[in-house]
Amino acid sequence: MFQHLTRFFFDTKWKLNSTFAFCKNQSEKMYIDVILGLQWGDEGKGKIVDCLATEYDIVARFQGGPNAGHTLKFDGKKFVLHTVPSGIFRDNLMNVIGNGVVIDPITLEKELKNLDAANVDYHDRLLVAKKAHLILPTHRYLDAASEAAKGKDKIGSTLKGIGPTYMDKTGRNGLRVGDIFHESFHDRYDALKQKHLKLLEIYPQVDFHLEEEEEKWFKSLAKLRSLKTVEGEWYINEALAAGKKILAEGAQGSMLDIDYGTYPFVTSSNTITAGVCTGLGVAPNKINEVIGITKAYCTRVGGGPFPTELTGEIGERLRKEGAEFGATTGRPRRCGWIDLPQLKYTIMLNGVSQLVITKIDILNIFSSFKSGVKYLRENGEQTDQLPYDVSVEELRPVWEDIEGWKCSLEGIESFEALPENAKKYVQYLEEKLNVPVTMISTGPQRQELINRKSVPA
Ligand code: GDP
Ligand code: IMO
Ligand code: MG
Repeated sequence: MFQHLTRFFFDTKWKLNSTFAFCKNQSEKMYIDVILGLQWGDEGKGKIVDCLATEYDIVARFQGGPNAGHTLKFDGKKFVLHTVPSGIFRDNLMNVIGNGVVIDPITLEKELKNLDAANVDYHDRLLVAKKAHLILPTHRYLDAASEAAKGKDKIGSTLKGIGPTYMDKTGRNGLRVGDIFHESFHDRYDALKQKHLKLLEIYPQVDFHLEEEEEKWFKSLAKLRSLKTVEGEWYINEALAAGKKILAEGAQGSMLDIDYGTYPFVTSSNTITAGVCTGLGVAPNKINEVIGITKAYCTRVGGGPFPTELTGEIGERLRKEGAEFGATTGRPRRCGWIDLPQLKYTIMLNGVSQLVITKIDILNIFSSFKSGVKYLRENGEQTDQLPYDVSVEELRPVWEDIEGWKCSLEGIESFEALPENAKKYVQYLEEKLNVPVTMISTGPQRQELINRKSVPA
């Protein structure tokens, strides 16, 4: 009898508790939204983050490092951010360089100098996660030597030391931001540097002025030490628990993801939504909206497969019209038409709930253009999946023709006011990709953005 009663109370209490927890979850919607690139990077993430940042309390970068170049244009000014989150120009919000980011103190110091010159007071609005790893001068040295050794098969790395730094992280040899405050830091630096110098012996000689770079690096550590550091995972989770809204800012693009990108022509971090969880220390069930960005066409910088690439005159026109030159390295970007199977793949990997189309204005000059809808394999088969050996096998896209609009989009502020064929293109993408297009960017400036549905508040 007693046992039955205990069981009854236990069951009832459990049911009440779970009902309460369910209701609580419904009312306390977690606010970590994600913005990331769905192609090979440079989709316009910086611009979109800057535009949306005012809706959030915190903007946090979760992966990558100074290989990123995020361009922001407003009030006649242009800024390119590499490590600092793109919310830094907005008042009243915090910017976090998360655990998953790799930091080169030299680049960071330069970025901060640019902010100083523009009178942006970041001191109380920029936080650096202690567990973020440091890029040493010898990491850059190794990056250059490794690329030189690859010859014509090189990745086309930005040579910022990204690969070697993440290798040391996973190899459990890396140095982290929190380490710079310890007495033993110099010794640990020396030990890692010696290891790198040994490794460099297997590579061809490259031009690198180590002593000079080391001197700069140690000087720039003073700046890093002056910044506010945090236990990133605690900061983010406590902010979430306090009801703060967080925007996670991705770097690179999903096709450069270390696991699911066009390996080996990828970067060395997880650029997809999963990277938010590891990079910021948040659980998957805390993620709310996933805002995926695609250009209205496609670009890639560096080596590797690009099925819809246009190597001839049209590609050149896209590059010229879109000013497609790397924001970090200045290299010309390879250009092509939009690739729907590629986008379907990255929408799947990321769980994209909203799409943003950028640079639609670049298509103004074309009376018609194309969209890649399938791939034709070397064996004559058609597929809408990128094959395993995509970096070896040559794929030919199957195209669909799209009619252009041949007019300027300047000053257009609503979807309804867009030319008919521009609207049709957006609707075509929505139908093919099965995700709502909530924003359309019509120019590089802040105000050049059509917001079809505001981000859920
Ligand atoms: P991110 O790395 O994804 O932030 O992109 P990048 O800054 O490397 O490259 C995007 C480039 O396109 C930058 O020069 C932006 O100023 C520019 N841009 C962004 N959105 C638009 C747009 O809608 N139209 C045009 N014409 N330029 C844009
Ligand atoms: P954002 O954030 C475009 C590319 C490089 C190279 C490959 C590996 O501005 O979109 P790495 O330096 O990581 O070893 O380079 O990845 N790449 C990018 N391409 N945009 C980026 O960042 C990129 N970051 C790296 O060109 O092909
Ligand atoms: Mg970029």
